[in-house]
Amino acid sequence: MAHHSIDVVTLFPGMLTGYFGESMLKRAVTRELVRFRVINPRDFTDDPHRTVDDRPYGGGAGMVMKPEPLVRAIESVLTPESRVVLMAPQGRVLTQAIAGELASCRHLIFVCGHYEGIDERVKVALVHDTVSIGDYVLTNGALAAAVVIDAMVRLIPGVLGAESSAEEESFTGDGYLEYPHYTRPEYFRGMRVPEVLLSGNHAAIAQWRREQSESITRTMRPDLLRGGRDDSGR
Ligand code: ADE
Repeated sequence: MAHHSIDVVTLFPGMLTGYFGESMLKRAVTRELVRFRVINPRDFTDDPHRTVDDRPYGGGAGMVMKPEPLVRAIESVLTPESRVVLMAPQGRVLTQAIAGELASCRHLIFVCGHYEGIDERVKVALVHDTVSIGDYVLTNGALAAAVVIDAMVRLIPGVLGAESSAEEESFTGDGYLEYPHYTRPEYFRGMRVPEVLLSGNHAAIAQWRREQSESITRTMRPDLLRGGRDDSGR
């Protein structure tokens, strides 16, 4: 049994299964570090039309996901150690710290909303945590779940090979954005690799990288220098 188990409850399984079969995620599965399952609430309906949504009480536009199929879908995979995470714009906004927190959970169940959202009682009954991937609205939570899963799975020990590291990169450690990278050729379309990187002087290289990091952070994300973002929830 893989050490980490991730379940996604969504009306659009196809949006995730292809993605789980590629690249890093595929490798994590092959190495038995993570197991993925996708659960469709439509499979937990009991009417001939397989109805998963209904009109909102109180009126208004849009549809709301019905509680029964959704709760049954979640409960079909729920265990005492599960952490149930709802994907919704109302959640705490994803940060590297939140990704790290989720990477330490053995069993995650991501619940993806659709239409105007889910019946509030599903949240009260089963949801532990709500996460948003940013201040914009997607048509459903499946892509948002994929983003969160991608950010967290690469932090599970053993998922990234020795060739890449999650320790020395943007949003970790010193809080600065990453410095620019170069590889061969040395001369490309009139542009040269900065001389210092060819010097072999490791102290000078480290200093150049630190200066680049500070400068790009000051220009692109001055908010990161003012103590960072609050991810304590709201
Ligand atoms: N569902 C719709 N919009 C979303 C967002 N920004 N984050 C997470 N889930 C969502």
